Amino acid sequence: MSAYNILLLGAGGRECTLAWKLSQSKLCKELFIAPGNAGTAQYGSNLNIGVTDFDEIKRVCIQDKIDILVPGPEDPLVEGIYDFFKNDDELKHIIVAGPSKGGAQLEGSKAFSKKFMQRHNVPTAGYREFTEENYEDGVTYIKEHSLPIVLKADGLAAGKGVVIAQSTDEALDTFSSMIKDARFGDASKKVVIEEFLDGIELSVFVLTDGINYVRLPEAKDYKRIGEGDTGPNTGGMGALSPVPFADDLFMQKIEQKIIEPTIKGLREEELVYQGFIFFGLIKVNGEPYVIEYNCRMGDPETEVVLPRLETDLVELFVKMHEGKLNEAETKFKEEAACTVMLVSDGYPGSYEKGKEMTGMEHITDSMLLHAGTKLSEGKVVTNGGRVIAITSYGKDIHDALATSYKNAEQVQFEGKYYRKDLGYEFK
Ligand code: AMP
Ligand code: GLY
Repeated sequence: MSAYNILLLGAGGRECTLAWKLSQSKLCKELFIAPGNAGTAQYGSNLNIGVTDFDEIKRVCIQDKIDILVPGPEDPLVEGIYDFFKNDDELKHIIVAGPSKGGAQLEGSKAFSKKFMQRHNVPTAGYREFTEENYEDGVTYIKEHSLPIVLKADGLAAGKGVVIAQSTDEALDTFSSMIKDARFGDASKKVVIEEFLDGIELSVFVLTDGINYVRLPEAKDYKRIGEGDTGPNTGGMGALSPVPFADDLFMQKIEQKIIEPTIKGLREEELVYQGFIFFGLIKVNGEPYVIEYNCRMGDPETEVVLPRLETDLVELFVKMHEGKLNEAETKFKEEAACTVMLVSDGYPGSYEKGKEMTGMEHITDSMLLHAGTKLSEGKVVTNGGRVIAITSYGKDIHDALATSYKNAEQVQFEGKYYRKDLGYEFK
């Protein structure tokens, strides 16, 4: 195989980890990251371009002779970057590691993904969908439904579009704010209302060529800001892999009942899909159910999944493009990996940026995967709510966490906060 020029889109901890992994490949010639952060700059060249600025992305793809495009976040995929490339004579030879706009609806529309699961018998919570037109039916549905009840804005809402209502009044208020007051803009013009599933969650990832797939290590993330899983949802406060309850039997059920019917369904419906599928799952009475699909890798799950993947990722993208993932062998590290996210005080509400970060140079037994950071006058400063992920290996998850926690004390910036209880339910 020859070597490839790669353009990675995104600027978070996920992209820093992808940049780390891609840059190690002997098949990676040059790596560009748009827009990237202070961490990705260690592995390639950052370009000051937004992830949905398709015209600028096109310009650099031609200028820098890009061979592979890797969209990190969902926005460019849901907006159709795959189709943009494949419909352009100057770009269509480029490998895009992500689905078409049609395939990305698995994440881009909750109503689409629920109907898709129903059509293909993929286990998921019972639901109905409502708009302004059948608003009154929605009110009746809520009043008759058991509690808690889950309301989801149909479209992308930056991870904030899901409300788990504990009372009928809260559900009715949420429903009204979503549809009548456009609480999430156009994203909540349609609302999916579904049954609450009580269980333990995990994230499962595959890379598919549309027919075959390889599974990546599974992970568990921690979404709530507070210890003991309390307080508001965040983009993710940490993650671990492997997941203790994901034994062989359970993973087999996931493959047979969820992954295989999903990929077969995409093919049957002619939804072009070459890329990652992220299955957000929940285990209820020993059985897996889909909470959501995403058309990309997870963040912060990527910060533990890729460190445990020994296989060359660029080689996997090339095999994906050739439709030969059945010939790919994936190897996972035996060791566990955990990541602890350091965040800015106030997050997920408002927080300050531009705080100087110190103490990172002495850390040798963890990986520092930058999320919200940037270089300013030669210094690394905070530039987001989630600032940096500290990933460590260990003989088990607790051992790996202990190393990350030791190093979380070393990295300093004003207003640093992190959860100190990750893995608590597995002790
Ligand atoms: P999502 O944005 O779809 O990932 O939902 C955010 C979070 O809400 C999930 O990670 C779950 O913790 C929770 N959630 C979503 N749907 C359900 C459900 N049907 N039952 C229980 N929890 C849910
Ligand atoms: N960690 C959940 C997500 O990436 O959506």
